[in-house]
Amino acid sequence: MAEDLTIVQGDKSIQYQSLLPQIRALMEGETDIVANLANVAAALKEQFGWLWIGFYLVKNDELVVGPFQGPVACTRIRKGRGVCGTSWAQAKTLIVPDVEAFPGHIACSSLSKSEIVVPIIRNGEVLGVLDVDSVNLNDFSETDQQWLEAIVETLPL
Ligand code: SME
Repeated sequence: MAEDLTIVQGDKSIQYQSLLPQIRALMEGETDIVANLANVAAALKEQFGWLWIGFYLVKNDELVVGPFQGPVACTRIRKGRGVCGTSWAQAKTLIVPDVEAFPGHIACSSLSKSEIVVPIIRNGEVLGVLDVDSVNLNDFSETDQQWLEAIVETLPL
């Protein structure tokens, strides 16, 4: 496909509905993991404009930052630490409406107010997480969870 994205306005479901096929098309025929994760992070950033969108990948029993869009971030996160490490340990999506109320939250940016973390699970094993941070409190809902989980499922990992 052409390397430009069609950005739509409207409620979140409409935005995700437009974005998901475009993300699939971007990754079609491409097996390089860094390339695909980089384009997915960029596509989400372009459509939604969140503060930070990116991937942490499990390497030697730690999460190591991968392709992302946004301010510089913590490089390594241990299992069970922060929202990302907790999502990894529990192998489930975590929605944090107010990061200051999450015990152990790792503040990479003081601008981040709410967060969603979706684990990337293959054959029962967590390979990494998709982390999204917003400057607004309570910015993520079950709608984001459903669509971001669908996006994570399409990643050819
Ligand atoms: N806040 C995350 C750390 C990663 S940054 O937000 C990019 C956490 O608590 O795991």
